[in-house]
Amino acid sequence: MMSEAKLEALLTESRAFPPSAEFAAQANAQPSIYDEADADPEAWWRKQAGRLTWDTAPTKTLEWDLPFAKWFSDGRLNASVNCVDRHVAAGRGDKVAYHWVADKEGESRTITYRQLLGMVCQATNALVELGVKEGDRVAIYMPMIPEAVVAMLAVARLGAVHSVVFAGFSAEALSSRILDSDCQYVITADGAYRRGTASPLKPAVDEALQSCPNVKAVLVVQRTGGDVNWIEGRDYWWHDVVDRQSEQHVPKSFPSEQTLLIMYTSGTTAKPKGIFHTTGGYLVQAATTHYYVFDVKAETDVCWTAADIGWITGHSYIVYGPLVNGVTQVMYEGLPDSGGRDRWWKIIDEFKVTILYTAPTTIRTLMKWGPELPDSHDLSSLRLLGTVGEPINPEAWMWYRRHVGGERCPIVDTWWQTETGAILASPLPGITATKPGAAMRALPGISLDVVDNEAQSVGNGEGGYLVVTKPWPAMTRGIYGDPERFKQTYWTRFPGLYFAGDGAKRDADGDLWLLGRVDDVMNISGHRLSTTEVEHALVGHPAVAEAAVVGASDETTGQAIVAFVTLKLSAEEATKDQAPLIHELREHVARTISPIARPRQIILTPDLPKTRSGKIMRRLLRDVAENRSLGDVTTLTDPTVVNMISQLMTTTPSGEE
Ligand code: WT7
Repeated sequence: MMSEAKLEALLTESRAFPPSAEFAAQANAQPSIYDEADADPEAWWRKQAGRLTWDTAPTKTLEWDLPFAKWFSDGRLNASVNCVDRHVAAGRGDKVAYHWVADKEGESRTITYRQLLGMVCQATNALVELGVKEGDRVAIYMPMIPEAVVAMLAVARLGAVHSVVFAGFSAEALSSRILDSDCQYVITADGAYRRGTASPLKPAVDEALQSCPNVKAVLVVQRTGGDVNWIEGRDYWWHDVVDRQSEQHVPKSFPSEQTLLIMYTSGTTAKPKGIFHTTGGYLVQAATTHYYVFDVKAETDVCWTAADIGWITGHSYIVYGPLVNGVTQVMYEGLPDSGGRDRWWKIIDEFKVTILYTAPTTIRTLMKWGPELPDSHDLSSLRLLGTVGEPINPEAWMWYRRHVGGERCPIVDTWWQTETGAILASPLPGITATKPGAAMRALPGISLDVVDNEAQSVGNGEGGYLVVTKPWPAMTRGIYGDPERFKQTYWTRFPGLYFAGDGAKRDADGDLWLLGRVDDVMNISGHRLSTTEVEHALVGHPAVAEAAVVGASDETTGQAIVAFVTLKLSAEEATKDQAPLIHELREHVARTISPIARPRQIILTPDLPKTRSGKIMRRLLRDVAENRSLGDVTTLTDPTVVNMISQLMTTTPSGEE
């Protein structure tokens, strides 16, 4: 007998949810949008540029010198004005920009657009006093507090470049990023709160700066209090320097192609890549995608992107997209279980959140804590859900739909990257049917394809590599200081096409499914198998909470599948004899996909190694699975997990049948 959960997981693979008529009638995106954009993508983007306030309206749209694009290049604008000033000028100054919710329950701040403008102007004036000039690079290393957004907008207001470094990164990671783009200023905080405990940040900055002699000034927000090391003449308290400034600042405008931001992301080598974005194209696409994908109604929606501003998701969908669109947001400082495992559901109820955007890994964590928690809160304000960051397994998708979305909210599975700057593939709510685990199709104005090794489009029902075939406004303008590496990484695999590094397939209907990074595609006895596919199968088993699969080299089969699995069972159940369960899981995968996909080895582990952005470190797991010495583990949330898994690896037998 097949369990209900298992049956459900299998069924969802082929299930499609059509848009509801009510949603469709009210949707920002109407079906003609695709035809209009297809007919003339550049004209369509030029029209979208009208969402912004330009000091000099652009007459040019795209200039393309592969792989270097310019968008709206003769236009001039100020990013910060587009996010804040113009809403106040339009009489919307009393509208709430952010409901900021602290880690600690009961603590929150409400910031209107008018207040935000005052804060941004004060911070801008302070930066001027500290010496920041147009074009300078400013590192921002901050917790999720309003001052982080204010800092970004103040830097942008001066035509300087922010490089936000996730506050979970180590001192070493911070210093290498500061050095790579020669940041001369750092904005930080004394500490951050995590589940009620203050953890210091400033010591990491102090340590990092020992190797960064060019840093002239450090601006420090006092968040946690307590002693900090202080260097006179270098360090400045935010409350000393910012609070006494005027709340007025007359902005200048800058060319559309002025660099706005740098965001570091890891590549295949140890050195992170400084992906940079410019102003006009990035803002146009961040705002346009936010408007259509999330169907935002500026007057009524309350958007919550549950991400960190230390990642591109936070840049595009906590800061720039939503602020350009003038919406009200929730910005949350804490962890999903700060103050209790139902904290998210309380926040949604209290602030009547309408649009929730998060990552599959978080959904699976919430899922592990049980449906009773969301079920016992009023989540009826929600009307749309989104996911981003990795392929979502159908079981998590269905759980999200049922227990968070009350079976009524469309789910947008949004595919994009740090490099793409904004969403490129996603269903459009009200138009596109959704399928559990599919990003479905390219957005209007975007040209994607799935190609084989020879760069030929694959047919329906086939898999290959995801490429972008035409330039898009928010595309990265390159890797900071390394144009060669930019060409090499993205433009040589398939000449003339942007190679995203992701595997994808078109299903029988022609709809797009992301299959994970191609570096994670396995070759088992000459058969190509996606790690994601095997993970989906494992997670479809009722006992499994999360699974990470790698292809480990194998004498007979080329590669063999090794799976690392966490269970939903209680500690007591989990310590019972594991052999029968391991056997059952291997057979389950063989049954669900094919005997070729039967894992050679399944390691049951209490935890999986994840990067601080929540991605499972498959590269590391492959090293473990192949008994290689472990490389750099500094980006892990908890490096001890790896040692534990290495131990388990040597004590868990391989199945040889
Ligand atoms: C990689 C980019 C985009 C913001 C967060 C991640 C994977 C992203 C999806 C999705 C399947 C996805 C891809 C991509 N990815 N979204 N909806 N379905 N995979 O940004 O750190 O630059 O990572 O994340 O593998 O290449 P990032």
